[in-house]
Amino acid sequence: MHLTLLLLALAHVYLAAAQLVGYATENGGTTGGQGGATTTVSSAAAFKTAISTTSPIVVYLAAPINYTGQYSVESDTSIIGIDTSGSITGGGLKISDKSNIIVQNLLINNVVGQDAITVTESQNVWIDHNEFYSDTTHGPDYYDGQVDITHACDYVTVSWNYFHDHYKSSLVGASCGNEDEDAGHFHITYHHNYWQSIHTRTPAMRFSHGHLYNNYYDGIISQGIHSRCDAEMLVEGNVFVNSTEPLSTYGLVIPDDSPNTSPDGDLEQDGHANLGSVSDNDWGTGKINMTSTGNFTSVPYAYNLTELSDVAATVIAGAGIGKV
Ligand SMILES: *[C@@H]1O[C@H](CO)[C@@H](O)[C@H](O)[C@H]1NC(C)=O
Ligand SMILES: *[C@@H]1O[C@H](CO)[C@@H](O)[C@H](O)[C@H]1NC(C)=O
Ligand SMILES: *[C@@H]1O[C@H](CO)[C@@H](O)[C@H](O)[C@H]1NC(C)=O
Ligand SMILES: *[C@@H]1O[C@H](CO)[C@@H](O)[C@H](O)[C@H]1NC(C)=O
Ligand SMILES: *[C@@H]1O[C@H](CO)[C@@H](O)[C@H](O)[C@H]1NC(C)=O
Repeated sequence: MHLTLLLLALAHVYLAAAQLVGYATENGGTTGGQGGATTTVSSAAAFKTAISTTSPIVVYLAAPINYTGQYSVESDTSIIGIDTSGSITGGGLKISDKSNIIVQNLLINNVVGQDAITVTESQNVWIDHNEFYSDTTHGPDYYDGQVDITHACDYVTVSWNYFHDHYKSSLVGASCGNEDEDAGHFHITYHHNYWQSIHTRTPAMRFSHGHLYNNYYDGIISQGIHSRCDAEMLVEGNVFVNSTEPLSTYGLVIPDDSPNTSPDGDLEQDGHANLGSVSDNDWGTGKINMTSTGNFTSVPYAYNLTELSDVAATVIAGAGIGKV
């Protein structure tokens, strides 16, 4: 009992250090279950019940749990792993037609046939300091995405996550044909994420305003940052090492089309990508090939760029679980 209370107290102290920056600060901000009830759970059944509570709630996950499929998260909820004990094997989270949700300090791994986190038709979501992995030996479609964001979501920040050993990491916008619903949405910030040994989508975005800064990419296998279908990206202060193919062909990608079964493939319209005016990127051995720079050159919120020479060390030290 005393140990649990101590861990909770420590979690509160450390979590205060994680600062929300980026698009999830817009549209009224993102506070999750702040001010609501607090509960600590250690079983899959209790976790499922707690995160579907319809009043504001902070749910601490204190032990590893296993389940299959995705559990739905209600609005005004924070889901926070305690120390490095909050992990989910086999199952994921679904945020559908909801708002104001924080997912922090969780390890989610090996989610078969589903995304680790699906965010769809939702606003104000902060996905921070989590770890996601599976393996790259099962091909592109055995697992699905790690964080996929579809159907006109808006005001999302994806920060300080460690995404590794996986095929398709993060897709924004499910289809080039969904312009009527998606255009003008998908304002999303990705910063200080650590992507390692990933095949594709770090991220791939359609119809978005995507601000990507200070992400660290180690060993991207086929496509890195991918701007497609009229997406506007602002890409600054990112560092790539050990890419196995040169970066690019359309938008900002590595040459091959996604090695999956998508019929859209290379026929998809290129997106736009602007490299910002303040900070360079370090493409390592990769080349970039932007077919359109577009006009997305500034964001409405304040943010601090990490010096390019410090990005690797800062992101490796700070991303993932057990850090906040
Ligand atoms: C969850 O699954 C993993 C991998 O199969 C296993 O190692 C672990 O013991 C399981 N944990 C629980 C709580 O069932
Ligand atoms: C990856 O890049 C880092 C930094 O440049 C380097 O130290 C390391 O040897 C590389 N690893 C591989 C497998 O090439
Ligand atoms: C850049 O992309 C365009 C359009 O896809 C393609 O025609 C061109 O060959 C690419 N150039 C390089 C150097 O990859
Ligand atoms: C910015 O670029 C987008 C995509 O090409 C275009 O739809 C939009 O009209 C442009 N906005 C301005 C202000 O030029
Ligand atoms: C930027 O850095 C300054 C100085 O450390 C700090 O006061 C400010 O809160 C930071 N802003 C953001 C958005 O991180």
